[in-house]
Amino acid sequence: MSDDFEELWTELAPVGRNRITGGYRRFSWGSADAEARAWFVSAASARGLDVGTDGNGNLWAWWGEPGPEAVVTGSHLDSVPDGGAYDGPLGVVGALAAIGELRRRGLRPRRPLAVAVFAEEEGARFGVPCLGSRLLTGAITPERAGGLADADGVTWAHAMEAAGLDPGRLGADRELLGRIGAFVELHIEQGRALVHSGAPVGVASAVWPHGRWRLDFSGQADHAGTTLLADRSDPMLPFAAAVLEARRAAEANGALATVGKVRVSPNGTNAVPSRVRAWLDARAADEGALRAVVDRVDAAARGSAAEHGVTVNGFLESASPLVDFDHRLRDRIAARVGGEAGGPPLLTTGAGHDAGVLATAVPTAMLFVRNPTGTSHAPEERATGADCRSGVEALADVLADLTGA
Ligand code: GLV
Ligand code: MN
Ligand code: MN
Ligand code: MN
Repeated sequence: MSDDFEELWTELAPVGRNRITGGYRRFSWGSADAEARAWFVSAASARGLDVGTDGNGNLWAWWGEPGPEAVVTGSHLDSVPDGGAYDGPLGVVGALAAIGELRRRGLRPRRPLAVAVFAEEEGARFGVPCLGSRLLTGAITPERAGGLADADGVTWAHAMEAAGLDPGRLGADRELLGRIGAFVELHIEQGRALVHSGAPVGVASAVWPHGRWRLDFSGQADHAGTTLLADRSDPMLPFAAAVLEARRAAEANGALATVGKVRVSPNGTNAVPSRVRAWLDARAADEGALRAVVDRVDAAARGSAAEHGVTVNGFLESASPLVDFDHRLRDRIAARVGGEAGGPPLLTTGAGHDAGVLATAVPTAMLFVRNPTGTSHAPEERATGADCRSGVEALADVLADLTGA
């Protein structure tokens, strides 16, 4: 195997990385994201691929004419705040390296082959994850997506325009989708199942249903030293009740619930807050358990808000239904990837992916690469060079098979 992966990885690794914490901040349409996208355009072009941008800001690099029954691989380059190096980039660098590997083997695909880089997979800036793939498949309307605003009120449409793209082309692209015969995403594992099974590469079976809900608590700002407790309308209290109930409800339902983002106004140590805006991320093996968690949090927030003279409003920001990846494609891939007796481990994940969105429109599969720390969405996320190479080889084998190379 060539050292293509190593070379590409070294080029991309510094982009958006904080040199002290090692965490990444690549937010859609910001400067680090622009640098990462420019890197992709240049790396893919240097490998003889035809690079373009679709109407939704996703990048596409084609080996051969874009045509029917194309095999597409890829992932994303944006990150969560202080994210790890691998979530996203492994699937993009891995895709380019896998194409290099096919060339090294002297193979030529008989079907078109493309690498896709999807925009705003994490939803870190505009709130809705997998925004580029949702737009492509029509899972979100261009009107709603275009109007999504970041913390400073800048909309997706304006940010795209500032990046030199035309937001007038946002929306489902049936022509492009119709060309895709299969999509395969290579991704870092975001847990330790592969560490436990002793395999460097696994195959995804399903993605848990999950979603994001926003809770807005409004009360009255006042002086921390003079306002009697009985006279306060403190939105921090129902917010705290909601956070604790999220934990209890998740435990009771075998689910996961996280409040990882919160904004407090006016955010002063010596002022009772006027407003708390918080985001609940909830995930469960089935829709019933997910609903049960969200309903309990909602009830706790309302009950506590009423008790403390606070108003609360809840909004669903994004829903990601259960994904059961295409069984035929999964089995074909598992047969190719091989592994110890019984084939590679099949993994269900609670993490969302563009592959989950694409799965609603085209046969889709995912490969996971072992992560020794099991940690993700944090700088401690890891993969060894040897495991990355195993992932690239597995992806190259799969692409060779699917394209009839
Ligand atoms: C995206 O990585 C998510 O699962 O939140
Ligand atoms: Mn992620
Ligand atoms: Mn990812
Ligand atoms: Mn993800």
